[in-house]
Amino acid sequence: MTEDIRLNSSKLGTQEYWNNFYKREIENFHDNPADTGECWFDDSDAELKMIQFLINHLNENSLPFEKEELKIIDLGTGNGHLLFQMHEDMDEDCEVNDQISLKYTGIDYSPDSVKFASDIAITKYEQASFEFDQVDLLQKESEFLAKHEGEYDILLDKGTLDAIALNNEPLEEHDGKIGMEIYSRQISKIMHKDSILLITSCNFTESELIKVITENGTNNLEVWDQIQYPSFQFGGIKGSTICSIAFIKK
Ligand SMILES: C[S@@+](CC[C@H](N)C(=O)[O-])C[C@H]1O[C@@H](n2cnc3c(N)ncnc32)[C@H](O)[C@@H]1O
Repeated sequence: MTEDIRLNSSKLGTQEYWNNFYKREIENFHDNPADTGECWFDDSDAELKMIQFLINHLNENSLPFEKEELKIIDLGTGNGHLLFQMHEDMDEDCEVNDQISLKYTGIDYSPDSVKFASDIAITKYEQASFEFDQVDLLQKESEFLAKHEGEYDILLDKGTLDAIALNNEPLEEHDGKIGMEIYSRQISKIMHKDSILLITSCNFTESELIKVITENGTNNLEVWDQIQYPSFQFGGIKGSTICSIAFIKK
């Protein structure tokens, strides 16, 4: 259904690449505990904008559900930096921080990412509520996705769908579909009605991302809000190098 949107396969679409990547980052962290690794899309301020987006909605009481405990999950968490930074900024900028409890979970299919993020959590954030788990988002019978069905209020994705879309290998357990075609179906298992998926991509344009996530408007995910980035104009076409869109589960 989204056959017209395909990226070229690359090593960044393989687990082997990410395992090696995080092995190196763990070594660097052990040599220098201040080095907590690569922050993807840092030049666009994507991480800060994603965090501010959530803080603004909390301050304005404009999330589509009311909860005293907010469960936040980062899909393909890497070094967990998005969650750690969110925890710090919530403490500083969120006006209702004392009225809600926040639970942060990070999942990634790379065991080295999970080890890295867990090491950082233990070393630097002993008091906070972080949990990291090794989960392949694309696994059809995933125990994690089944166990946490309908559980998370906010899902974050910074660069993970981008990485998944760099692998065009047909998945046997999904009738030969590729990762990006089953991503929405898989992640919406852990969303409840009105959960929000905030996703940032540098590989898809806004309209491509909407098509991929909503499966061309055929599933129960809809655009809810989005983050604005500086745009450029080239050959009469307006665009930006990155996009962040929030989807709601209907
Ligand atoms: C570009 S990195 C982004 C990492 C992190 N979100 C960040 O912003 O720093 C892509 C991440 O997606 C993870 N990933 C890719 N495919 C995955 C899958 N099928 N299930 C879970 N994680 C996956 C990789 O291990 C890697 O950590």
